[in-house]
Amino acid sequence: MNKARFSRLGFILAAAGSAVGLGNIWKFPYMTGENGGGAFVLIYLFTITFIGLSLFIAEVLLGKASRNDAVSTFEELAPKNGHIWKYAGFMIFTGLLIFSFYTIVIGWILKYIYVSATSLPLNAKEAGAAFGGMVTTETFTQFAFFNLAFFIIMFILSKGIKQGIEKINLILMPLLIGILLALLLYATTLNGFSQALDFLFVPDWSKVTSTTIIKAVGHAFFTLSVGMGTIMTYAASLNKDANIVRASASVAILDTVIALVAGIVIFSFVFNAGAEPSAGPGLVFISLPTIFSSFGILGNIFSVSFFVALAFAGITSAVSIIEPGVLYMNTRFKISRIKSLVILGFITYGMGTMALLSNVKEYASYVTFGGKGFFDILDFASSSILMPLGGIIIAIFVGYVMQKERVYSLLKDHTNDSIFNLWYFSIKYITPIGVLAIMINELFFK
Ligand code: PFF
Repeated sequence: MNKARFSRLGFILAAAGSAVGLGNIWKFPYMTGENGGGAFVLIYLFTITFIGLSLFIAEVLLGKASRNDAVSTFEELAPKNGHIWKYAGFMIFTGLLIFSFYTIVIGWILKYIYVSATSLPLNAKEAGAAFGGMVTTETFTQFAFFNLAFFIIMFILSKGIKQGIEKINLILMPLLIGILLALLLYATTLNGFSQALDFLFVPDWSKVTSTTIIKAVGHAFFTLSVGMGTIMTYAASLNKDANIVRASASVAILDTVIALVAGIVIFSFVFNAGAEPSAGPGLVFISLPTIFSSFGILGNIFSVSFFVALAFAGITSAVSIIEPGVLYMNTRFKISRIKSLVILGFITYGMGTMALLSNVKEYASYVTFGGKGFFDILDFASSSILMPLGGIIIAIFVGYVMQKERVYSLLKDHTNDSIFNLWYFSIKYITPIGVLAIMINELFFK
């Protein structure tokens, strides 16, 4: 059992802090850009509403009911065969994979705060060369910033739920929202603004393939932090009186709104400058700084603000990614928080270093497996396989393994019957069948 508890607002902020991350501000815009815009956004919104939110509610329900780590949650709440169901807790390892590459990207962002303040690239060519050069040749710089990010996050985690996680979210989340809103306000004055709205909200179905769909579904999991026990773990420290459905819906709405705002801001600047929306993972590192540089000193201010917001978003998510592992070691093996962090830190630091080197030309061949670099393997394995798989398992557990009366009794004070029935239908049928069909199609028929 864990003792430190989130306040109600503290939980919502921490869960929102987990959900709102690089996924919203870095990944969502570039994925939308690469996958044709509006149609991708619509599939993503649909998945968040009908699958993501249902799973989010399921995870909160499980965590709040067991008040224990993810492995024990499955073990204790299974009406029978708990000794088998505890293996469903494998999902906490997904976090280790995500954490390893996530911290590298936060390192890039920290470097870009510095770049923004000192010398913005003057044109796209220069910006592309700077970003590409950093990732593929500057081993030392990248490693230094990766370390900085890694130790900031570990420091926050070492302070625990209340003094570390809750506090950092209480400070950084309002700042992040403030910065994004200020940028949005400015974006509305740009010529690219209406083009950005068209790109994001007018679907072009000819651009949709099965890959677009699995990417949108995978991203819906990633952005809400579901399918790997993170939300379950946070909910284990939730006060008894918090409303599960309302809290979950607030987080999902906030997460979605922030992704859309980030998309509108970024594409307004991109279209305003006549740049390409499909620049890929480099979008915010290449296109944006170039565009900002044309605004003179104001551009430096925009750019610093943007990357600071991005760093805040990343840090509040990163702390949540590894917390399931900490709670697991703490409750099952009575290993202290600090010791758990050292052990998990070693593993993720090692994998992070491999992932970092897999992008560096000189070392890539040592950390490339089956034609894919370790960085891409971690990203693909977590978003496209492990998180959806975790989601299916949670849905099966809540929809088929637990008795319906039990599930109903846990939720009945939090919502009315029609919403309960809709949610239960989604957990029982839409989520497992939909996600499985998409995964099978992607993995075996392509
Ligand atoms: N939701 C985070 C984002 O959008 O960046 C990423 C994430 C956080 C994934 C926590 C998984 C997780 F457990």
